[in-house]
Order: sequence, then C-alpha cells, then structure tokens
Amino acid sequence: MARRRMIYEGKAKILYEGPEPDTLIQYFKDDATAFNAEKHAVIEGKGVLNNRMSEFFMTGLSQIGVPNHFIRRLNMREQLVRMVEIIPLEVVVRNVAAGSMAKRLGMNEGTELPRPIIEFYLKDDALGDPMVTEEHIIAFNWASQQDIDDMIALALRVNDYMSGLMYGVGIKLVDFKIEVGRVFEGDFQRLIVADEISPDSCRLWDIQSGRKLDKDVFRHELGDLSEAYTEVARRLGVLPRNGATTKGPKLVQ
Ligand SMILES: Nc1ncnc2c1ncn2[C@@H]1O[C@H](COP(=O)(O)OP(=O)(O)OP(=O)(O)O)[C@@H](O)[C@H]1O
Ligand SMILES: [Mg+2]
Repeated sequence: MARRRMIYEGKAKILYEGPEPDTLIQYFKDDATAFNAEKHAVIEGKGVLNNRMSEFFMTGLSQIGVPNHFIRRLNMREQLVRMVEIIPLEVVVRNVAAGSMAKRLGMNEGTELPRPIIEFYLKDDALGDPMVTEEHIIAFNWASQQDIDDMIALALRVNDYMSGLMYGVGIKLVDFKIEVGRVFEGDFQRLIVADEISPDSCRLWDIQSGRKLDKDVFRHELGDLSEAYTEVARRLGVLPRNGATTKGPKLVQ
C-alpha cells in the first residue's frame, strides 16, 4: 500500500493528506505537552479517547448547525476532516476564572465570571502563544473585523452547547479553546470550527467534588490523566459505562 503523505506533525496530532480533494486525515497521538511543550509525556490511550470525544462534540455541533471540519471517524485514532485555512489564533472562552487569566488578574481559581469572556491568543509556539487584542488582529492582518465577529459567534455557540452537555453529566465547563478555519465555496468563504474539542482543550471540573477532569491533571500532576478522560467519555456515553476502554481487547468468557 502506498504510504500516505504526511502534511504536518504537531504536538498532539499528525495531519495526512486525505483520500479526496480538500480533506485531511487527523491522527491523534498519545503525546501530552504542557507549558509550551516544556513538559511532555506519552499517555497510553489518550489519542483514542480524544479522537472519540472530538467526534462526539463535532457531530453534536453539526446537528445544531454549528459548522465544523469533521466528516467522519476512520478508525480508533483517525478522523477525516475538511481541510481549512487555519486562522492563526486560538479563541478562548472562559466561564470561570482559572489558569493564566486567574494568575494574570490575581483572581481566585473558581471565581464565576459575570459573563463568558473571549480572548484571542496568537498561535506562535516560539513566542509562547501571546494574548492579542482585536486591534492587533486587524492591524497585522491575521483576520478581518468580520472574521472576528464570526469567530466570537462560533465560540459562544460552542460554549452554550458544550456547557449544557457537560452540565447534564455533572461537569462544569470552566473554559476551552477552539481553532477556526476558512473554507471557500464558490465565490463565498466562511469560517468553521476546526482542530479538536477534547479534554486537552477544555477545563472540566466535576460539579460535586471539584475534581479536575482535563489536561490540568497532567499539567499539575493531579493523578491519572487517562482515567480522568475516560471518566468524561463514560459520563457522556461515548464509552460503555463499564468494560472496554482503551487497554486493548478483553477475553469474552
Ligand atoms: N481542518 C484542518 N485543516 C487544516 N489544518 C488543521 C485542521 N484542523 C486542525 N489543523 C491544524 O493541525 C494541527 C494539529 O496538530 P496539533 O494540535 O498537534 O498541533 P500543535 O502542536 O498544537 O501545533 P500548532 O501550534 O500548529 O497548533 C494544528 O496546527 C492545527 O492548527
Ligand atoms: Mg494543537
């Protein structure tokens, strides 16, 4: 079989050329990185869980009319997506103060925000993904004012969808980031949600216990990351409540 052409290898995923024009295959790796890749580990099964969860969230978003790149899952670690022109920004939505915002503004982690707050970060690993304002985005041509308005609208819809979904299974959506890409359709172009939505890109806290069920478990060594992600997947019904997870085939007795 001919080898597929690799297009890009990132920290968490690999992109391959897709089988049809304007498609890509996203391969989810088990690698976890934090603090701008200063901390790195391989967490067995993480890629499988994130592939499944991103499929689940993107499919739900499509069903409520939030456009995104997901086409179909191909296997345990790969999904077919629509190729987009990635806007070089991370769009972050925060419902509760945590992480860099709590630190920067001297707020206690866990402080409820008066309304969802959107932030933009430039995707530039060498600079440590600095926060940027709308002024920077427009002046430096990373996106237009119309793009910014569209990104905000998309991010808020994802926030409402994800918050409700998580609330239903006893989890608070504290914050998350999305990436957005441009697609061209004839004379028109529009922005759609791309990359992934998974516990790697969200902060998720168990409502009852406050237990963290996201990548902070890895960042701050709070326990078993794959166990936390499996818990999220189980609650959402993405994995069976008991039995097969990611550890490989089980003997049927
Ligand atoms: N539909 C898509 N079309 C094109 N590129 C995409 C699409 N979805 C995601 N990407 C890009 O694919 C890459 C996924 O790899 P990964 O998440 O491992 O990257 P990363 O290490 O986080 O690096 P980066 O700083 O580029 O995001 C990212 O660069 C992301 O922007
Ligand atoms: Mg990434």
